[in-house]
Amino acid sequence: MQVFQNPQELTNFIKKLKREGKSVGFVPTMGYLHNGHLSLVRCAKKENDTVVVSIFVNPTQFGKGEDFDRYPRDLDRDLRLLQKEGVDIVFAPQIEDMYPEGFSTFVEETKLSQRWEGEFRPGHFKGVCTIVLKLFNIVKPDKAYFGEKDFQQLKVIQKMVKDLNLDVEIVGCPIVREDDGLAMSSRNVYLSEEERKQATALYQSFQLAQKLVKEGLRDPRRLEEEIINFLKKFPLIKRIDYVTVVGEDTLEPAEEIKGKERILVAVRMPSARLIDNWKLEV
Ligand code: PAF
Repeated sequence: MQVFQNPQELTNFIKKLKREGKSVGFVPTMGYLHNGHLSLVRCAKKENDTVVVSIFVNPTQFGKGEDFDRYPRDLDRDLRLLQKEGVDIVFAPQIEDMYPEGFSTFVEETKLSQRWEGEFRPGHFKGVCTIVLKLFNIVKPDKAYFGEKDFQQLKVIQKMVKDLNLDVEIVGCPIVREDDGLAMSSRNVYLSEEERKQATALYQSFQLAQKLVKEGLRDPRRLEEEIINFLKKFPLIKRIDYVTVVGEDTLEPAEEIKGKERILVAVRMPSARLIDNWKLEV
């Protein structure tokens, strides 16, 4: 496994691989890897000759007062895990390598990114699109892998790729959950023991919602109400940022549940903000 810090050195190396006819699969991450990330790596390994994983906690996607400084980091552990998975290349740049003095160009998707996470984390998707486009330009992947856990992010990136004619295929991969249903996330380490227990409320609310839909409920607003009432029973869920049933492609509130809808949820616990989503089956 080769580890690169310098963007230009990595690009030169990738160009050489491409001249040899090798396909490149790319998994962008912010590190502190868990099984969700590793599932993306495994998927990339199956479908490409070379797999590149980036590890970079991107400052521009964190708002003021968010957790950039305390975001968990452990590069040595990440490298060990990636080596075990048989990853070919790791790209782990420093902030100055990605945002040198005087950096002044940003990329913004202006439709799918406005609501939900966009509303509660202004500027977040601008930071995500900017870093992902930069990473694509450096790594030149044929395919790039993103988890459905950040469903809105996946959709925004797909839209950026389409709108800007980027020559990369975006592959969305299913959410990986703990045994009790909590979606894996690097931020789960913030949770206290009691918060961790109550964090399963999100998954349980999806189970309830899915049951109601199976029983015939088709009104998205009523379903949202049922989920909210359920989540309110958990005292450590201090705030519900949003619970919404949206069309999978538009991310706009659905008018009826027909089989192409997702529930998107974001809540705040004392030590962490959790987001999760669920594809409704009719
Ligand atoms: O999903 C993430 O971990 C980040 O948003 C990404 C895509 C690596 C960009 O920093």
